[in-house]
Amino acid sequence: MFVCLCKAITEQQICDAIDQGARSMADLRNQLAVATDCGLCACDAKALLARSHSLAPSQAAAQSMPAAQPVPAALYATGQGSAQFYPV
Ligand code: FES
Repeated sequence: MFVCLCKAITEQQICDAIDQGARSMADLRNQLAVATDCGLCACDAKALLARSHSLAPSQAAAQSMPAAQPVPAALYATGQGSAQFYPV
């Protein structure tokens, strides 16, 4: 799929550039000339960069949420459950 119509740059080309080390819009502009004409593709190119960063194993591990813990139903019945888990 084309991301940049002005320069005929596809999503695959951007993903390949990211895989090869592009880490910013400046990198993508220098390597592919993406977003160097009308600029309408900049948001999509930035989204691909952001998505690639969020999928990096080291970042995914850093951003992972702790495992959910079960809340005993009895705590809800007494109305004290939220105070225990969300202390003010
Ligand atoms: S669509 Fe990319 S510069 Fe115009």
